[in-house]
Amino acid sequence: MTDSNNNKSDIAHILTEALPYLQRFASKTIVVKYGGNAMESEELQNSFARDIVLLKAVGINPVVVHGGGPQIGELLERLNIKTRFVDGMRVTDSETMDVVQMVLGGLVNKEIVSLINKNGGRAIGITGKDGDFIWAQKLHKISDSDTASAGGREIIDIGHVGEVKAINTDILTMLEKSDFIPVIAPIGVDDHGKSYNINADLVAGKVAEVLHAEKLILLTNTRGVLDDNGKTITGLNVEQVNELIKDGTIHGGMLPKIQCALDAVRSGVNAAHIIDGRVIHALLLEIFTEQGVGTLISSTPSSSTRNT
Ligand SMILES: Nc1ncnc2c1ncn2[C@@H]1O[C@H](COP(=O)(O)OP(=O)(O)OP(=O)(O)O)[C@@H](O)[C@H]1O
Ligand SMILES: [Mg+2]
Repeated sequence: MTDSNNNKSDIAHILTEALPYLQRFASKTIVVKYGGNAMESEELQNSFARDIVLLKAVGINPVVVHGGGPQIGELLERLNIKTRFVDGMRVTDSETMDVVQMVLGGLVNKEIVSLINKNGGRAIGITGKDGDFIWAQKLHKISDSDTASAGGREIIDIGHVGEVKAINTDILTMLEKSDFIPVIAPIGVDDHGKSYNINADLVAGKVAEVLHAEKLILLTNTRGVLDDNGKTITGLNVEQVNELIKDGTIHGGMLPKIQCALDAVRSGVNAAHIIDGRVIHALLLEIFTEQGVGTLISSTPSSSTRNT
């Protein structure tokens, strides 16, 4: 066979391999968290946007939730606003919250919307304040560093950092029905109209739960969850996750990610995946190929197989 015939048969093989997944996921919702750390290059950003457009084109309903930690840090530095972190969370006073809203709701959100639209999709960017759809409550952080010897644990005020209290799905189902792709910035609002910065992984997990999504896919800047030798762990269940947290293998930004993945699968989302957003077309590889990529989180010990 000539090279060109080989290529054609490769393409035919790839499309055939994708067929069962196309059939299985048609008209289902897939929630994708796009981490600020995974937005490394223009090439990667375009590959992400193209994957999202392709999902919509084949009848799947993608919902995008994005982070933006590095971009917030950059603008705070340029504005000379000092911030500090408590156990990996940014202490967010009112001035910092203004910057968070500008960067997440303005800059990053609209960049992703434009990318998707440029690649042929129809995206609408929203924060949880639009239609009051993410109800937040203040997160009361208990210091990890304080020990009983210091007289008990201390509750620390980290300002406008919130957690999801409830999600109103009306606006999301309306967008889905109208064939728009929702792009969500993780900002919530409380009963008094006060804004909160919420970890994007937690928002993505909750959105997946309330939409009864087929999958939750968390794109980040590592090859999935790594063991203490730096090797990718392909499948994890609740007991294994608890062990890895206890011995410190899972820490920092991976903690909310794994927590929301577990919560999601426990609440009926079929599968949660933590995958490498630095790989071109990582989403397509995860959704439409047999082997998948990254780490699959499941609720039961026996179902740690690929592409459930
Ligand atoms: N066991 C582990 N395996 C892989 N990464 C881990 C592990 N434990 C901790 N991490 C850290 O978690 C980080 C990913 O979380 P991080 O919050 O930094 O990124 P993100 O959530 O993708 O982006 P953003 O917070 O901007 O949305 C990794 O870069 C790594 O430093
Ligand atoms: Mg993070």
